[in-house]
Amino acid sequence: MTRPADSPDKPAPRTDGPKIIRRILSLLSPYKWRFVWAAGLLILSVPGELVTGFVAIYVVDHIILKTDKMAWLDTIFSFGGAVEGWPWLLASACVWMVVIYITSVFFDAAGSNLMERTCQRFIVDLRQSVYDRIQSQSQAYLHRQSTGDLMSRAMSDVGEVQSFITGSIDVIFKELLLWIAVVITVFILDWRVAIATLAPIFAVYFLLRLFNKKVGPIYKSASESKGRISSRLQENLSGLVVIQTFGKEAFESQRFSDVAEQNYRDQVKSINARTIYFPLGRVVGFLSNVGMLGVGGALILTNSGFSIGTLLAFRAYWWRLFGPVYSLARVNDMIQRAIASGRRVFEVLDETNTIIDSPGATAVGHVDGNIRLDNVRFSYELGQDSPGQTSSGKPRTRDILHDVSIDIPAGSRVALCGPSGGGKSTLLGLIVRFFDPVEGTVTLDGVDIRKLTLQTLRPSFALVQQETFLFRQSVLDNIRYGKPQATLEEVREAARAADADEFIIALPNGYNTEVGERGVRLSGGQKQRISIARAFLANPSVLLLDEPTSSVEPDSENAIIQAITRLMTGRTTVLTSHRPSLVARCDLVYVIDEGTVLDQGPPEEVRARNEWLDRFLRSGYESVASDNGIVQTNSTD
Ligand SMILES: Nc1ncnc2c1ncn2[C@@H]1O[C@H](COP(=O)(O)OP(=O)(O)OP(=O)(O)O)[C@@H](O)[C@H]1O
Ligand SMILES: [Mg+2]
Repeated sequence: MTRPADSPDKPAPRTDGPKIIRRILSLLSPYKWRFVWAAGLLILSVPGELVTGFVAIYVVDHIILKTDKMAWLDTIFSFGGAVEGWPWLLASACVWMVVIYITSVFFDAAGSNLMERTCQRFIVDLRQSVYDRIQSQSQAYLHRQSTGDLMSRAMSDVGEVQSFITGSIDVIFKELLLWIAVVITVFILDWRVAIATLAPIFAVYFLLRLFNKKVGPIYKSASESKGRISSRLQENLSGLVVIQTFGKEAFESQRFSDVAEQNYRDQVKSINARTIYFPLGRVVGFLSNVGMLGVGGALILTNSGFSIGTLLAFRAYWWRLFGPVYSLARVNDMIQRAIASGRRVFEVLDETNTIIDSPGATAVGHVDGNIRLDNVRFSYELGQDSPGQTSSGKPRTRDILHDVSIDIPAGSRVALCGPSGGGKSTLLGLIVRFFDPVEGTVTLDGVDIRKLTLQTLRPSFALVQQETFLFRQSVLDNIRYGKPQATLEEVREAARAADADEFIIALPNGYNTEVGERGVRLSGGQKQRISIARAFLANPSVLLLDEPTSSVEPDSENAIIQAITRLMTGRTTVLTSHRPSLVARCDLVYVIDEGTVLDQGPPEEVRARNEWLDRFLRSGYESVASDNGIVQTNSTD
């Protein structure tokens, strides 16, 4: 789904309750024909609910009291006079009742089944679009959000919308349909008793409005606190090693309990509101029973044209008039939850993505690999939870790169170095278009990358990151993630080039070994080599390496450096590294500090002018003295 590129600062539209419900319902439009079918079947089930009252009138007023009230009933039950005598007429009325009721139950079951299946389909599609929306979001957005909160929106909030759709729509439709049918019927039977019966029921409606005013904010807060529980859970599970290492279990348990308790308090508030309003609604609703018996009884005793049979019919219908008030309270509750959750779901769906294909974007063809950044300025948007929001509600930004120009000739190896936090990783992010510059351009072979489709731009690069991410699947599938059709032999060739084949075949199941979540069953160096094999196999035109060797033990570092060197051969390579041996073997080096380019040129030239680089490279000569010689041979040439 392509969306217009709105301003990233545009706040998510604040929509009120009825609008959110209308919007949820409007999402149902693709399924409207199924709903029409289901509705048709449910309409056919209505007579089953009405038949009892009419049989009551017929049996009491016609057969027992022998009045001729509603003579048309006799025409039906006596088959136009063909059946005579009370036993046969009674039997006929009973058979009619059973046949109509059974038929109605069948239509009701079929209609509900179709309705529920359609609702399930709708929810699966809704959750899918939430997932797709999150997946296509820019890195800038994802950095601002908490993973746990997004998970909570995709699962729990979509779940609340689901409860509303599956638990309410058919109830609302069926109950409303029946309710209208019964209201019309009771008015036809006797408008005076009908008014006495319905008046208290309308009072319940006003009670519900009061209830909604009270619970709206509570449900909103409950949804948000659920999101915070999910965030905390997700973050703490990811950081469990740190928690255990620092012995912070008690502290984290308390932090978790704080967010869980907040949710508990919200839930208790909503339970209390329900405890007050629901029974109140029942009592008020029950007054309709009193009104009906009182007014109905008085009318019979004063001979005011109201029969005992009709009173019995009213009794039979009373539950149909009052029952929906019960359901309404429950459904109304679901609606209030759906409003709170729907708002959070729509916030995700409405989030505009700025990293999208510009109109008329073309596919990347053959890539030479010439990359240029021209006068690039960039700032990160700070998250919603970071202090320092501007008064307009716009998130604060933080300037990172100022007027950076970098030229990476096709086929060259370029190192970005400089002190930590200078902006090197950010520059790599701009090249693969995780972010767009605030000013300036990034071009690939002379074309602004915003004019190239993302689907073809990103596969032109292979980004090997310091933090290797592996999926919870086999080594084989991890290596061929970018090229799923690769054969085992191709995968092994890539693994051999990455110096990974040897350790992989020694794993319990070789290439079919499952690596565990995020690759926990492998060492840092092993994961790194698998990610290099993945890059080898993808065979990209441009290689981007972000600290590919840091956090790797010295033993495997040399093997990785050798593998990377093979991978760099014949490709444009941009790397950031704290490893002098890798930087020294590049054609060009850019020294970047505090978001500006301090110096640039071949490493040996730059080090003569730049004290920082000189110190950096020298630290390498010392530390690699015990290496296997790769660096010395390369860095001295
Ligand atoms: N998502 C983000 N939101 C806000 N600021 C960020 C974000 N990511 C990085 N920064 C800031 O941007 C600056 C540049 O970060 P970057 O990761 O590009 O540095 P780096 O040169 O790669 O550092 P290192 O050598 O330590 O990897 C840092 O000051 C960092 O605090
Ligand atoms: Mg970095």
